Amino acid sequence: MKIEILPSDPDGLARAATLLSEGALVAFPTETVYGLGGDARNDRAVAGIFDAKGRPQFNPLIVHVDCVETAKRYVTWNDTADRLASAFWPGPLTLVLPLRPDAGLSPLVTAELPTLAVRVPAHPVARALLAQFDGPVAAPSANPSGRISPTSAAHVSAGLSGRIAAVVDGGACEVGLESTIVGLADAPTLLRPGGLPQEALEAALGAPLALHASGDPLSAPGQMTSHYAPGAPVRLNATDLRPGEKLLGFGKVDAELNLSPAGDLTEAAANLFHHLHAMDALGAETIAVSPIPDHGLGRAINDRLRRAAAPRP
Ligand code: TXA
Ligand code: MG
Repeated sequence: MKIEILPSDPDGLARAATLLSEGALVAFPTETVYGLGGDARNDRAVAGIFDAKGRPQFNPLIVHVDCVETAKRYVTWNDTADRLASAFWPGPLTLVLPLRPDAGLSPLVTAELPTLAVRVPAHPVARALLAQFDGPVAAPSANPSGRISPTSAAHVSAGLSGRIAAVVDGGACEVGLESTIVGLADAPTLLRPGGLPQEALEAALGAPLALHASGDPLSAPGQMTSHYAPGAPVRLNATDLRPGEKLLGFGKVDAELNLSPAGDLTEAAANLFHHLHAMDALGAETIAVSPIPDHGLGRAINDRLRRAAAPRP
C-alpha cells in the first residue's frame, strides 16, 4: 500500500475524510506535530493505529475533536477544564478527564483506563478535517513508536509509508513540540510538558500545577524514558565538541545546525524535531546538544532531549 500524499485543499480534505470514515488511517498536520488519525469509535481503525506505529496497546491515545461542546460528549467536564479550555483551546493543550460511560469510543483508545485525553487542535487543516469528518479522531504522533515525532509530511512518509493510507500535507508544524497534557480527573497535574508552557497554565489557574511523579506509570503511560530517540546517541549540555560528534547548537555557537542562533525558545521548539531528524540524516556518530534554558518552552525541549539521550533498551 503506497501512501497517498494529499494536498490540504478541499479535494484533499474530502478524500481524507472519506478514508477516515472507511476506517482507514490518515496522518494530518496539527500545530504541534503530525497526528496519525483514525475513527475513535472504530475498533479496527484504532487497532490499526497501534499496529502501524508498533505502539504497545497499554499506551492510550488522544482524541481530537472540533470544539469544547463535542469534547463534553466523551468526558465528564468540570470547572477547571472550562477555565483551561476557554483560555487555551483550540491550541497545544490536552486535557485528561473521566471517560463518560456513554462515550461510545473504542475501548482500545483509552487502554481501558477510566480517563480520556482530549484536545481541540488549532491548525486550520486539522480543524477543517475534523469538521468534514464530523467525528472523534484518535491520533497519536505519526511516528513509529519510540522515534522522533514528525513535524512535516515528509517525516511522516519516511516513517510510516506502506503502513497507513494517506498523509495530508499541511507544511511544517508551527509549535513543533507535542501538546502539554494536564490531568484533571484529580488535582490539576502536569502529565507531560509540551507546546503550552507550564507558566501560562499556572497563570490561568492562579495556582501551581502538581507535577507528575515519573515513577507513576499509570497516570501517563507513554512517558517512558528512551522515547523520541534519533538514530544516533545524544549528549546533552555540550559546551565542547568530542571526536565523532556534531553539534546541535542553541544561541551564538559554531554548530552543524542551530535550534535558534538568536537564542529564542519558540524558534528552538519549532526546529527541534526537524533538526534531530536532519542530524541523523547527516550521519552524526553522536549528536551533542548545547545547553537550553529550563523555563517556558525550554522545559518541554529539555524533556524531549533527556528522552532522546536516555539509555536505549
Ligand atoms: O500534540 C500532541 O499531543 C500530538 C498531536 C497529534 O495531537 N499527539 C501526541 O500523541 O503526542 P501521543 O500518543 O504521541 O502522546 C500522547 C500521550 C501519551 O504519552 C499517552 O500515554 C498520554 O498522552 N495519554 C493518552 N491518554 C491518556 C490518559 N487517559 N491518561 C494519561 N495519559 C494519557
Ligand atoms: Mg508520540
